Amino acid sequence: MGPAAQGKTWTANSLKILRERGRGTSRGTGRGTGTGTGTGTGTGMGRGRGMWTPPQGGVYGSLAMTDRDAAQGRTEVLEPDEDGIRRAAAALRAGLLVAFPTETVYGLGADATDGVAVAGIYAAKGRPSFNPLIVHVPDAAAAERVASFDGRARELAAAFWPGPLTLVLPRRPDAGISDLVCAGLETVGVRVPRHTVARRLLAAAGRPVAAPSANRSGRVSPTTARHVLDDLGGRVPLVLEGGGCEVGLESTVLDLTSSRPVLLRPGAVVVEALEERIGPVDRGGPDPSRPRSPGQIGSHYAPRARVRLDAGEVGEGEALLTFGPDPREGPRVRNLSPAGDLREAAAHLFAHLRELDATGAHTIAVVPIPGEGLGRAILDRLRRAAAPREG
Ligand code: TXA
Ligand code: MG
Repeated sequence: MGPAAQGKTWTANSLKILRERGRGTSRGTGRGTGTGTGTGTGTGMGRGRGMWTPPQGGVYGSLAMTDRDAAQGRTEVLEPDEDGIRRAAAALRAGLLVAFPTETVYGLGADATDGVAVAGIYAAKGRPSFNPLIVHVPDAAAAERVASFDGRARELAAAFWPGPLTLVLPRRPDAGISDLVCAGLETVGVRVPRHTVARRLLAAAGRPVAAPSANRSGRVSPTTARHVLDDLGGRVPLVLEGGGCEVGLESTVLDLTSSRPVLLRPGAVVVEALEERIGPVDRGGPDPSRPRSPGQIGSHYAPRARVRLDAGEVGEGEALLTFGPDPREGPRVRNLSPAGDLREAAAHLFAHLRELDATGAHTIAVVPIPGEGLGRAILDRLRRAAAPREG
């Protein structure tokens, strides 16, 4: 997807949010409330943007600017002064992407409660698959609203936050985190970064921010705003300047969802320092004597039902996952995006799979999904779900 198409997506999304706000309805298209519910995003609205008059002044005024820049494939670098932080925070709340500094690497942030915004991260990075993303919050109290903490988690949070440690914990359903952030899992990775610009941004945004490293898929993680521009210039509307990253290496990721803590990714907080606080930690992947089992770690959601791809007709006892204009509806039918918008489809994917699984259907029939752009990541997920399983 080129910068122009990208810009259209940003525009459609922010217009949608501004309109929804105007109506005073809730955000959260990522929570998948059935099919075709008033999330009329998509290229149609993007094309119609010329007819829209931006509200004057205030937050919306500056967002309209951002939006226009984005539509023209321009990336604006914001100084981390009061005005820059305010604009970056407002952009996040409006569903736009903001690259921002942390002490580890620059992150590409989106409102973690807005599934369509989170889908934009995958589109901008060109990531071919959905992996769970880290949720960034300004302090431990905010983290406890997103995840369920036990004694070990509190101990580590007190010792290492703010700082380069991510804790994988059971997610709190009431936090409204998009299913796409957690790749459909019941767990969530949370962290409180130490960089002052990140902390000010998170406090000002007032909502959890999902952020992988701010680089194109397959490239190295950026540790300066310049690196971000080199990789994502023209693909994201805003980069918040914050100098060089002090750590320069991604955070340590520790899974605390089972009785034995598991190191999922080594990082700046060394495992020995963790063990001093909470006892033995399973080293996971890097140690060949303890091979990491994906099933055990459970890093991927798979539905119970079988998944049948490229389906035309729906068979007896099957549920239907469809996409684009489709008159079929009913309790066993979900539409990823009636408008045919891949970003909306990505935002709905996990919630819809889960809902169809819950109907008790033995098979979920899936209509053909376009393989370009975000469609690749959607198809990657569906193909894995469709692959023959053991047992
Ligand atoms: O330093 C960092 O952590 C940077 C900055 C921006 O904060 N972020 C970052 O995010 O590296 P990302 O998305 O590139 O890496 C997230 C890592 C992945 O290895 C992912 O598998 C793991 O965290 N992770 C996140 N949530 C998880 C979950 N619920 N279960 C298992 N692993 C999870
Ligand atoms: Mg990365």
